[in-house]
Amino acid sequence: MSAKIIDGKAFAADVRARVAEQVAAMKADHGITPGLAVVLVGEDPASQVYVRSKGKQTVEAGMNSFEHKLPAETPEADLLALVAQLNADPKVNGILVQLPLPEHIDEAKVLAAIEPAKDVDGFHISNVGLLATGQKAMVPCTPLGCLMLLRDQLGSLSGKNAVVIGRSNIVGKPMAQLLLRDSCTVTVAHSRTADLPDVVRRADIVVAAVGRPEMVKGDWIKPGATVIDVGINRLPPAEEGGKARLVGDVDFDSCVAVAGAITPVPGGVGPMTIACLLANTLTATARAHGLPEPEGLTA
Ligand code: GUN
Repeated sequence: MSAKIIDGKAFAADVRARVAEQVAAMKADHGITPGLAVVLVGEDPASQVYVRSKGKQTVEAGMNSFEHKLPAETPEADLLALVAQLNADPKVNGILVQLPLPEHIDEAKVLAAIEPAKDVDGFHISNVGLLATGQKAMVPCTPLGCLMLLRDQLGSLSGKNAVVIGRSNIVGKPMAQLLLRDSCTVTVAHSRTADLPDVVRRADIVVAAVGRPEMVKGDWIKPGATVIDVGINRLPPAEEGGKARLVGDVDFDSCVAVAGAITPVPGGVGPMTIACLLANTLTATARAHGLPEPEGLTA
């Protein structure tokens, strides 16, 4: 048996199309255009690529994109002043400060300064608490994308055994909360978990987000399980002069033979993150104006 390979690229395109459709309806019915502000401090090349991609996809969805590029030596106070300005701007419905920030800036302080209702990353402690207590929150984009893929694949998640490998604030912890909310029995495993293969073997759903290349092996996987790989690891070329390889936290070749469905890297979870950022911006806009929640785009 070979697993179904989940096409995250196609699914993300579908999410973006649904966002664009609902943005068009919001404009036509209410005269409102959602706006997303993205703030980039410094010249980190990977961050520049992400920010460009975010801006492009925001505009393609029919939303306003506001980009703020600040030099690496920007004082923390100036960044906090910009965040305050964006918090107060009614044209801005979502704010994303690209991480990582330069070392002289206190990341926690900046994230705490973002108005929770505009926190489309879902990193503000208010949103973390709302999610953990089962209330309406802004949900971090990558776990939201994983949840959408899982629901599409499995329908109801109720009663499934889910193992999340990784306990980061950005993926592992919010992923566990979302799966709990969908009535899974959730185990959060991590790099210090004893007998990790044994823990993973019990899972109907495996979400790997540990940042260790190809760690999860095929003989850890329960036959028929759904495997979601959040890892993005760059490996040196297999042969001299070859290209660097992008691999996940899952050893795809051994797992694809056992799993029921699996996401590839690249082309699995990756494209879902920006699609969910657009979905969150639409959700934040609807909430700000007291409109109904967007359909099929929230947790
Ligand atoms: N840097 C890499 N990924 C992300 C993300 O999802 N949000 C923010 N704010 N910064 C990032």
